Amino acid sequence: MSAVPPMPSGGEHSESPSSAEHVAERAERRWAVIVGVIIALLIVMMVVTGLHWSAMPPSRVETVDVNTLHLKGEFVESNLGTSFEDGKVVVRLLAQQYSFVPQCIVVPSEISVTFRGTATDTIHGFMVGTTNANSMLIPGFVATFTTSFKKTGERLMPCHEYCGTGHEAMWARVQVIPPEAFLAKARAGERLSCVPS
Ligand code: CUA
Repeated sequence: MSAVPPMPSGGEHSESPSSAEHVAERAERRWAVIVGVIIALLIVMMVVTGLHWSAMPPSRVETVDVNTLHLKGEFVESNLGTSFEDGKVVVRLLAQQYSFVPQCIVVPSEISVTFRGTATDTIHGFMVGTTNANSMLIPGFVATFTTSFKKTGERLMPCHEYCGTGHEAMWARVQVIPPEAFLAKARAGERLSCVPS
């Protein structure tokens, strides 16, 4: 025992140097291969999804000309608000620094409501209370989704994309009213809102 030279780290090497090194080397190589395969897989995924998705853009990409937004087409001021046509409730809204038009939106409960919105200046977004109504509004694109509100009442609708210094003051209200009350108010061709006049 005491014949073994007192070499603190050399001791392990002198035992069976080649076999221990081989084991370590094999383990290292194995891990290098595994990590290499993972990296290659990630790169393949990036390339495939990049090429595939740019060849097939997400559905319902709808563009709109920002420069003529206020002048003609769907998002002129007189067309904003809630419409009821052919049995469908459609809410059209605009977002701009730092407000929504209209400032107060009326929708019925329990009936499908389709939102169509866009932004005039920069990226905004909105969500309605704690419902699943939630979307980004991007200049040049029409955001659209359909949802329904189970409970009546008033909800806050804040902007949820940072859009500048006035971002935190940018919000609107959504009044969810019973379907009968909504249908009594709604007349074809008219745009409803709860903005005090
Ligand atoms: Cu608009 Cu934040």
